[in-house]
This record gives sequence, structure tokens and C-alpha cells, in this order.
Amino acid sequence: MQAERRSDSPSLSARNLTGIDDLSDSDIALILSRAQFYADALRDGTVPRVLEGKIILSLFFEDSTRTRTSFDVAANRLGADVVHWNAETSSLKKGESFEDTVRTLSALGPDAIVMRHKEFGAPLTVAKIAACPVINGGDSWRAHPTQALLDALTLKRHFGEIEGRTVAIIGDIAHSRVASSNMELLPRLGVKLRVIAPEVLMPEKLPSDDIEKFTTLEDGLPGADAVITLRLQKERMESALIDSDAAYFKAFGMTHERLDLAGKDAVLLDPGPFLRGVQIDDALADDRSRFLYDRQVANGAPTRMAVLDLFMNKGASSPL
Ligand code: CP
Repeated sequence: MQAERRSDSPSLSARNLTGIDDLSDSDIALILSRAQFYADALRDGTVPRVLEGKIILSLFFEDSTRTRTSFDVAANRLGADVVHWNAETSSLKKGESFEDTVRTLSALGPDAIVMRHKEFGAPLTVAKIAACPVINGGDSWRAHPTQALLDALTLKRHFGEIEGRTVAIIGDIAHSRVASSNMELLPRLGVKLRVIAPEVLMPEKLPSDDIEKFTTLEDGLPGADAVITLRLQKERMESALIDSDAAYFKAFGMTHERLDLAGKDAVLLDPGPFLRGVQIDDALADDRSRFLYDRQVANGAPTRMAVLDLFMNKGASSPL
């Protein structure tokens, strides 16, 4: 049954979610508050099926475990049907162009498209063609907006309020879409952001001059409330930029001792997939009181429920 909807509910200004820059400050606040609502509703078993009768087209041109599955879970919880399209078994293999493929799929009338692509800005191309909202599940190193939103939700649910907190992101800043979207989102939420990376993995320019750059953990970690580690995105490096995984771990791998450099109450996050012995040692990876990975994954569902609800029911009233 479709939940009854009120007519005075707030609505997003954005039509698509291709990156954090699509969102106004009030859009961000609305998504995070709706995500909090869905996190509580999942816990209490009171989720309204606000997407019943709707169809979501899932276009993943690149591998995914967390993002694709949590969009599916989010859609199912809200009553939508998900249609999975598979690039490997599609007519792309016969030479059909990317644009014509998107036009063809869009003509089937989905109510939303959720997509991932390795090419920079691919969701922007799809958004120009499609008649429905396009939600980016990650493209190139450019953007992964729902990962940043779920990271913010995880920090909010852990700290209560995140304005004024300090977060340090460690690792492959240059090639990471998670870093890109978090560097846009977290400062807009009042977070003091630091990035820590070897010179070869540090972008020349950051999105904001307020983000502090460090090249060692010893300089960058003290005083951080939370630390986010990133995988070395070797698939996006044109040549090997780091001598070895062991050398990276020696300089930038996280252990309890290094997390304590930030503070005894500091917590660790990682978007996954995380590599043990490269980003994080086994003892810290298994300490889920300091490493909030499970909570990040769990928060992926309510965050994506909020995004799907708000973008797909835009203009409609909400029961919430
Ligand atoms: N965090 C993340 O994007 O993971 P997947 O690549 O498994 O979706």
C-alpha cells in the first residue's frame, strides 16, 4: 500500500544527484534528516512503502559490492522494483553507443536511474538524456555523492553534531571519488577537514583553501576526531606511484597506536573495500568500537532510501 502523503512537505531543489554540487545547503539538510528518519524506521520496523509501483533502472558499468547492493536494499525497503542492466551482456558489445544505449533504456520509462561509470562525468551525460532523476553511484575520481552523505550520517550518529569536528582523510586523495565528494560535503557541514597523503597522491588543487594538507600522519593526525582511510586506486593510476603496499603501510597504514595519535576517542572510517595490511592492520580492522565500517555500510541503506524517496517523489507530498 502506498503511504498517505501530506501536501506541505519540504522538497529538493536538485533534479539529479550527479555530485554534491547539485545540492543546496537545505537539500543536504533534508537528505540527512530523512536518512536519520529512515535509520530509525528500519530499526523500528516502520518503513513506509513510499516507492510502491515505481521502477528503478540500475546501470552499473563498473564493479560494486556496497553501493549497488545498498541501493537495491533501499529500493526494496521502500517498495520499488529494481531492473538491473548488465553492460557485459548488453548491445554495447555489438557497437551501440553509450548515448544511444541510454536513450533506449530511458524510453522504457524508468522512474529513476542509479548508475556507476568509470568515465569522468558520465552521469552528467545520462542526466541530459534521461527524463527521470539520475543518481550517481560513483564516476571516475570525480564524485561519489551518496558515499559522502552516508559518511556524514555515520559521523552525525556517532558524534551527535559534526559542526566544528575535525576529520582527516588519509591516502589516495588524487584518485578517490570518495575524497572528492567528502571534500565538497564535509566543509559545508562545518567540519574542519584535513587531507594526509604522500606528495604523489595529493592533488595540486583542493576544492577549498580551508582544507589543510599534510604529508605525514605525525603532523596531520593530532586532534582529529575522526579519520577516513582510502584504498590506493591503482586502476586509476597511469603508472605505479607507490613503491609497494608494504612501504605504503609503513608510512600511512592505520594501527591503534596511530589512531591514538589523533586521540583516544578518535574513530576510523573507510568507504570500503579496505585492504588489510595496506590501509589498516588486522587488530584495528577487527575493533569495531574504533572502526565504524559496519555502521557506514548499515547507514548506506537509509541514506539511499532518503535519496530515492526525495528525488523520486519530488513534487509529491511526503508522509513524513
Ligand atoms: N564504497 C563503495 O563505493 O564500495 P563499492 O565499490 O563496493 O560500491
